[in-house]
Amino acid sequence: MKESKYYLQCVKCEHITEDFGAWFEQNQVCPKCGSKHSEVWYNSDYNELPLIMKGNPESFWQYFYYLPLNRRENIITRNEGAISLQKWWFLEDFAKEKYGLNLDIYVYRNDLNGGTGTFKDVAAALAASVLKEYDINQYCVASTGNTATSYARYLSIAGINCSIFLPENALKSSEAMISAFGQNVYRVKGDYSKAKEIAAEYAKKYNILISSGNIDPLRVEAKKTMVFEWLRQIGKMPDVYIQAISGGTGPIALDKGVREIKKTFPEIKNPRMIMVQPDACDPMTQAWEKAEAKNFPKNYENDYPILDNPQTQVPTLATGNPATYPIVSRIIKKSGGTFIRMKEEKLVPIGRLVAYERKLLLGPASAVCLGGFFEALEKNLLKSDETIIINIGEGVRRAPEFVEQMIYTSKDISSVDECKPHQIDDYRQQLWNDVLK
Ligand SMILES: Cc1ncc(COP(=O)(O)O)c(C=O)c1O
Ligand SMILES: [Zn+2]
Repeated sequence: MKESKYYLQCVKCEHITEDFGAWFEQNQVCPKCGSKHSEVWYNSDYNELPLIMKGNPESFWQYFYYLPLNRRENIITRNEGAISLQKWWFLEDFAKEKYGLNLDIYVYRNDLNGGTGTFKDVAAALAASVLKEYDINQYCVASTGNTATSYARYLSIAGINCSIFLPENALKSSEAMISAFGQNVYRVKGDYSKAKEIAAEYAKKYNILISSGNIDPLRVEAKKTMVFEWLRQIGKMPDVYIQAISGGTGPIALDKGVREIKKTFPEIKNPRMIMVQPDACDPMTQAWEKAEAKNFPKNYENDYPILDNPQTQVPTLATGNPATYPIVSRIIKKSGGTFIRMKEEKLVPIGRLVAYERKLLLGPASAVCLGGFFEALEKNLLKSDETIIINIGEGVRRAPEFVEQMIYTSKDISSVDECKPHQIDDYRQQLWNDVLK
């Protein structure tokens, strides 16, 4: 018999599940111990990875040998996951001038993903492809917005019905996209926790598969390819990784990717992960600060607050009940990283500054991440000669209302007498002042 390409292994009891067909049949839990947390491992040869990286990928499907899909004809793709790491010199110059630090700063441009322009496109592409491989035709997911729109698009392309549960505060533009593709949207009266609860009941009632959250092996396997991409593009792992965190698929996947290839690339290790939350929804940061103040007592991972209906301006990050904190906090601690917060009043100033310096419009969750970068400098978390990757999780499509707040040069006029030419440079100082004050 031909050796299978991959298998799933329970993180808790090591029970092996043959493939996603079996995983779906056993309702995405370990039949032996009931854990929902299994990881995928491959029989593929990792010595080929450096060669595969030398290609010029159009998408993360370049890493097909290390993804849990058996037949290439099932691939659903919109050119996601082969996005660039860009040097952002204006941030390097700033770190040098204000803090005397020589930093190598790369920005990971998830807004360039071809599906919906977010961090979530690789996961949705892999999920759609694997579901197609097993002829699954109904699926459901609860999401704060970006996973929702991405799954809606990719599953629609695969011809799979997907019911989507959004919290009350989700962005109208997310709802519109999902609906436009013909997928069902349920806007749940309540917060993200409530949306997850009803989605789970719906999955049970109709016996429909549900995306199982931040540890879903489909999401993790897709996102781990960022490790391959960084090695391909800059030849090493960064020293520091900065990301806005909601549930934590990012750090979970990063850690998995590193463990997966450690045997082949013994020198690679996790970067220090600096996780950023907006101050209006920061349960993980609160928990971390408490643990740190007490020097990480036994069981610190299970001591976290639950915020009901967090009133954040960044609905995509509105996870008030951080159920994955026990898993994520251990990864962050092991990496030497930390959780920090940024002030939401800085979102618009940061959005304007980036638009001005890079001629690029960001979404609010990306502004949270950049706010974290400025905080990290202020808190002395970065050291000279380090390489930093900042994850820009989403572009501008996400939040039209945020875009409207980028306006600051308009004047209402009624005659040419009120108009005169300007110098773009004259705006710079004020924009920086607004971010730094
Ligand atoms: C743009 C963006 N950045 C960051 C995150 C946080 O992702 P996670 O906490 O799952 O790693 C999300 C998730 O909702 C997002 O949409
Ligand atoms: Zn188990």
